Amino acid sequence: MNVSSGFPAHRFGVSPMALTYPASDIRKMFTLAQNRPEVVKLTVGEPDFPTPDHVKEAGIAAIRDGDTGYVANAGIPELRDALAAKYAARWSRELTAENVVVTVGAMEALTLALDSVVSPGKDVLVPDPAFPNYRGQLHRLGARAVTVPVREEESFKLRARDVEAALTPRTTAIILNSPSNPLGSIMDADDVAEIARLADLHGFVVISDEVYDELVFDGARNTSIAEAVPGFERFMVVNSFSKTYAMTGWRCGFVIGPADLVAPIPLIQEGVASCLPGFVQRAALAAVTGPQDVTRQMLGAYQQRRDRIVSLLNDIEGMRALRPEGAFYAWANVRDLGLTSWDLAARLLEEKNVAVIPGSAFGPGGEGYLRLSFASSLESIEAACAGIAEYARWRS
Ligand SMILES: Cc1ncc(COP(=O)(O)O)c(C=O)c1O
Repeated sequence: MNVSSGFPAHRFGVSPMALTYPASDIRKMFTLAQNRPEVVKLTVGEPDFPTPDHVKEAGIAAIRDGDTGYVANAGIPELRDALAAKYAARWSRELTAENVVVTVGAMEALTLALDSVVSPGKDVLVPDPAFPNYRGQLHRLGARAVTVPVREEESFKLRARDVEAALTPRTTAIILNSPSNPLGSIMDADDVAEIARLADLHGFVVISDEVYDELVFDGARNTSIAEAVPGFERFMVVNSFSKTYAMTGWRCGFVIGPADLVAPIPLIQEGVASCLPGFVQRAALAAVTGPQDVTRQMLGAYQQRRDRIVSLLNDIEGMRALRPEGAFYAWANVRDLGLTSWDLAARLLEEKNVAVIPGSAFGPGGEGYLRLSFASSLESIEAACAGIAEYARWRS
C-alpha cells in the first residue's frame, strides 16, 4: 500500500483513506523551517497584516454580549444577507440569503461544496499545478482528480480548450482557482465563460475558489464564474475572509450558489462543524459592511512587494518569473538551475537559510518551479532573494 500520510501502515483500525491521504510538501517545508529564527521564510500564504481593529472590536463586543452559543447551520441571517448584497452588486445577479452558506474558512466551504455534488468514483477536473488541498479533498471523497495542465506558454492561465480535452464521461465537477495559488494568474473572462458553456453542455458543476478575488494588481478584475454567462446556474463560488481582510485564524468562509445547489450544505454542516461561532460571524459582518480601504491598503503593499520580488528574481541567473496578476505568490521557473524543485528548496534552506515552497508540492506540473510568498516584508523579500542569488551564482 502506498503510505503517504506518514502513519504506520500496521496501526490497527486506520482506514485506507487516512493511510494514503496525500501528505503536503508545503507543510513539510514549513515544518523543516519552523523554530529556526535565522531562516527567512517566504513560505506561508497568509497576510502579514493584523485583522483590522474595527473587525476585532466587533468580535470582542459579540463575545461580551453573550453571542457564544450555537447558531444556525447556514450562518447568521445578517451575514448571509450582507454577503448576498455584496455579491449581487458585484456580479449583477439576483442573490438572497438562500444563496449563501457560511462555513469554517474556504477549506470547509470546498469540502461541503464537493460533498454535495461529488460521489465516490466520479471524476473532478483539477488544474495542475494547483492548491494541493484539492487533491486531498477528492482523495477523502473517493473521487478521481483528473488534471488539466496549466502552461507557462499560456501565461499560466487555465484554458477552456484544455478543460474540454480533459473531460471524461464521469466528470461531475471542475475546481477553478482564479487568481491562482500558486501561479498568480487571473483567468481570461472568455475562458471562464467557455467553461460555463461546457458545464451546461456536459452537465458538470463548476466549483470556483475565489479566495484571492480582491487581491488583484494594476486595476485588474477577476471574472467570477457567477457572472461570466448571464443565467448560468451550475456553479458554487467558494470564498472567505482570510485573505481579503487578514482574518486567516478566524476561519470564516462561505459558499454562494443557486439556492437548490447550496441547500444540502447546511444539512451536512450539522454533522461536521454544526456552525461557525456567532461572534466570528459578527466580526465578519463588520468586515464586509465596514470600511473597505483596509483591503486597498494591504493591496498597495502587496503590489509594491510583487514588483520588487519579480525584478529581483529576474535578475538571478537561471531563474525567471512572470509578473503575478493577483494573490501574493511569485512562481519562478528554476529549470536552468538543474535540480529538482524539492532539492533546490532543501538546499536553499540548508545552505542559505531561505525557506520557499518547491513547485512539485502543487502537482507534477509544478516541477521545475518554486513558489515564493510575498505576503512578507520587503526586507525579508530582499534578504531571501540575495540568498537565492548567491546560491545560483555558486551553481553556475
Ligand atoms: C487557493 C486557496 N483556497 C483556499 C484556501 C483556504 O482559505 P481559508 O483560510 O479560507 O480556509 C487557501 C489558503 O491558502 C488558498 O490559497
